[in-house]
Amino acid sequence: MNLSPILEKAYSEDKLTAREAQRKAEWIAFGPVVFQASRIMVKWGILEMLRNTDGGLTMSEIVERTGKTPYAIKVLLEASLCIGTVVLAEDREHFLLTKTGWCLLTDALTRVNMAFNHDVNYEGWFKLEESLEEGRPVGLEHFGDWPTVYEGLSSLPPQVQQSWFGFDHFYSDNSFAQALETVFAQKVDNLLDVGGNTGRWALQCVGYNPDVHVTIMDLPQQIGLMKNFTNGKPGADRISGYGINLLDKNAPFPTDKHYDIIWMSQFLDCFGEDEIESILSRAAAVMDGKSRIYIMETFWDRQKYELAAFCLTMTSLYFTAIANGTSKMYHSDDMARVVNRAGLKVERIVDNLGFGHSIMVCAKQ
Ligand SMILES: C[S@@+](CC[C@H](N)C(=O)[O-])C[C@H]1O[C@@H](n2cnc3c(N)ncnc32)[C@H](O)[C@@H]1O
Repeated sequence: MNLSPILEKAYSEDKLTAREAQRKAEWIAFGPVVFQASRIMVKWGILEMLRNTDGGLTMSEIVERTGKTPYAIKVLLEASLCIGTVVLAEDREHFLLTKTGWCLLTDALTRVNMAFNHDVNYEGWFKLEESLEEGRPVGLEHFGDWPTVYEGLSSLPPQVQQSWFGFDHFYSDNSFAQALETVFAQKVDNLLDVGGNTGRWALQCVGYNPDVHVTIMDLPQQIGLMKNFTNGKPGADRISGYGINLLDKNAPFPTDKHYDIIWMSQFLDCFGEDEIESILSRAAAVMDGKSRIYIMETFWDRQKYELAAFCLTMTSLYFTAIANGTSKMYHSDDMARVVNRAGLKVERIVDNLGFGHSIMVCAKQ
């Protein structure tokens, strides 16, 4: 398996001491409650009040400020001491925030991941085993009986929607500025944004380039959301929608005009390999020698940091249990193989956009 140099080093050696390994094993065993206790420490504002108070706070001060019972605060603080989000001050009475607690509280990526895992994934991951066995998102059932999360997105409870979109947007929004430079390095009259969702990227495109027209292809219910979101914003008159279910193997790509760029951002990770091949083959059918597909993905093998690869391979299991049961965050070699099977070739890969995106530029073979 090919890996970036940092990952190569991290994943080819069992470097923990026996004691560290035992500790890590217990962290795994108690993972769900480490997560929940820490999430509540953030939600109840305890970490924030510790950050904002010089010298920290005693247990009874925290009870008073939160209005929670002494029992609730005691179990949370004792667990948090052992988790490492708080420590005791010299007087052994006051609690202080640690660096880990500070990261939980202020690191935007951690906050987004925590909300996503609690609101979208937590209950569904209880059904991970069935999802793996059955190849369908059994963990989605408590939200509704859609075959995939995408059909249900527009009807998920507001808090769940907020965390889903927060997660999705966080990653892609942070890459848009660099992606615009890459895409518009050439002349682009028409761009087809496949899986364009609420139109955030399309709005960026029409704002960046005064001439481009963007067609967003997405499920019909998402096109409705997109129209509401883009309505009245600058350049919205150069954005149009094309409702389609791309899981239907007979649903063709539009041929109404020549698309210079077919853009797929965080889209192909919503599908299994055979589905990707089918989608890319249909895209290839409307391409000529000048057209290019730009696939923007967070390929886990191309990450600069081990932590990023960790976040991505864990996110794959959201796809297993909640999204669709068949897709994942891909290894770039796997994606390149499917690209070739679809009659395309990878021309180049641009790495290190935003929080670890790459753009795989593909042309017809
Ligand atoms: C993870 S979101 C990516 C959104 C956006 N491109 C971004 O980078 O943030 C995937 C998008 O693919 C769309 N999608 C998923 N399954 C689809 C299908 N079968 N047909 C058409 N669009 C689909 C979803 O509705 C969603 O808007």
